[in-house]
Amino acid sequence: MCGIVGAVAERPVGDILLEGLRRLEYRGYDSAGVAIREPNGQLSRRRAVGKVAALEAALSDSPLNGSLGIAHTRWATHGRPTQANAHPHMAGDGDTNELALVHNGIIENYEPLRRQLEAEGVHFSSETDTEVMAHLIRRSMQTHHDLLQAVHQVVSQLEGAYAIAVIHRDAPQQLVCARKGSPLVIGAGMGEHFCGSDPLALLQVTDRFAYLEEGDVARLHLDHFEVLNAQGQPVERPVIRWEHGHQAASKGDFKHFMLKEIHEQPQVLADTLEGRLAGDHVLPQMLGSDAMALLPSVKQVQIVACGTSYHAGMVARYWIERLAGVPCQVEVASEYRYRQVVVPEATLFITISQSGETADTLAALRFAKTQGYLGSLAICNVPGSSLMRESDLTLMTHAGPEIGVASTKAFTTQLTALLLLTLALRQAKGLDDATTREIVDDLRQLPTLCQQVLDLDTQIERLSAAFAEKHHALFLGRGTQFPIALEGALKLKEISYIHAEAYPAGELKHGPLALVDRDMPVIAVAPNDDLLEKLKSNLQEVGARGGELFVFADHAVTIADSEQHHVVKLPAMSEWLAPILFTVPLQLLSYHVAILKGTDVDQPRNLAKSVTVE
Ligand code: AGP
Repeated sequence: MCGIVGAVAERPVGDILLEGLRRLEYRGYDSAGVAIREPNGQLSRRRAVGKVAALEAALSDSPLNGSLGIAHTRWATHGRPTQANAHPHMAGDGDTNELALVHNGIIENYEPLRRQLEAEGVHFSSETDTEVMAHLIRRSMQTHHDLLQAVHQVVSQLEGAYAIAVIHRDAPQQLVCARKGSPLVIGAGMGEHFCGSDPLALLQVTDRFAYLEEGDVARLHLDHFEVLNAQGQPVERPVIRWEHGHQAASKGDFKHFMLKEIHEQPQVLADTLEGRLAGDHVLPQMLGSDAMALLPSVKQVQIVACGTSYHAGMVARYWIERLAGVPCQVEVASEYRYRQVVVPEATLFITISQSGETADTLAALRFAKTQGYLGSLAICNVPGSSLMRESDLTLMTHAGPEIGVASTKAFTTQLTALLLLTLALRQAKGLDDATTREIVDDLRQLPTLCQQVLDLDTQIERLSAAFAEKHHALFLGRGTQFPIALEGALKLKEISYIHAEAYPAGELKHGPLALVDRDMPVIAVAPNDDLLEKLKSNLQEVGARGGELFVFADHAVTIADSEQHHVVKLPAMSEWLAPILFTVPLQLLSYHVAILKGTDVDQPRNLAKSVTVE
């Protein structure tokens, strides 16, 4: 998705903006641009299609200098990825540029606004929805003569989602930014201020951030910032120090962020458990002070999420129904938000999201709040994100920043948080302590077991060679492992571009078995659970059709290794931890296959890390 960086300082900001864009590359984009107010008072810009490196080359041919600027990476929505559509967009009088603006999001009512401006004689130089805002703010400046007020007046007319940053020729030490539906943070420096779509973009210059609320408009000065809320009233937004940011922003000794993030899992699983287990039970206070009152009343659960986070919700459904005896529904947010829903009495609405800014998940939460749910709970990895701010209860996953587009540590920490939540619900229902105690003991083993699974990396890397020439793959699992098979297939698709499908193994003979031959590798996850014997029968069906099987099996499972059956044995583990731990070899397999295929592992084609538009 689009990325924004802005800076107002006393020093030149060109390099800060470029470095910010580089740090936002992981979000996915197809063009980039920068605008700077030069010492002679002119606003000048450079734009380039393709990577930030292309913009850098354009800037080295024709440098810009100044201490006020904005920059952008664009992920095309309205209009192709061309230089003319790249941001910043300008508005002015003839050849004189008065203001420059960058935007993340989609303005839904831009067509009538554009027609109206064109009728008034405004000339547009792009196909974007964004340019409308630049012209509207310029017009509003003629009435208000103040950039903050002009921006506030214009955003009140907009429908859709936006995060914007604006600079004006006549305001040399001011940067105005605003957000609704798309993320934007303010970075507080010493005698300088910044804005960015993600704090990671600004870690080079500060570790102190203020998060804007929905509808806020802010003006950044050198030594302070002021914020108006959606109603135009001055409000305070606290500045928070982000302690572990620097560590997250670098790959360390790893070749890719994805690999680093896979290997961080023992630590982040421990972080997610920290302070949440006490003796033989979990602490419901991890969900906030209102949780103790709310949890005993929960009679149903509705989970809504997208992509990998949705798969986490699918696993949680098995746990919540079995361990807490509470009926649970799970749905993808893009479907849920447009459906007529019937809400059973006392239903807790749960969203799961790494970023906390996914447009469909956020819209689903807002819709759910009008539907009479008992309350809302966000399971999320980004403190201060929209989902966290707008939910009644929150449960942080503590995975730390995830840069690789393919979600890895965010998923396993989501599962861990969901198992903790399930136990909190179970305790609130007064169900038998022995099972809770057993799972709490299991959870304490989780980081160590995860490290043991990671130690299988060399073995998994060897297997990956069998996939490099394949065009399709089939993933099988049963019970809680079916969503893990789905997640394995999603990982392989995303980063290796191999078409992969996942099925509950029992569905094999209802159709997908027809696909099985020696060119269709079949990957199965086989923990030592009640469904193991049934899964083994399904695998026989594959073997009998000449299919090549790759089985990730629990230590105690007996499946013979042969030329056509490759078995990787995982350490012995409890069935409760199996969905979390069986995910790890599938992550490693996808990673190694992608390396063999030479794809862009951290920024796979066409994908964005944080999907902040619908
Ligand atoms: C998974 O690898 C993807 N990055 C994607 O499916 C992701 O999980 C989805 O877009 C939801 O994102 P969120 O968790 O930030 O809401």
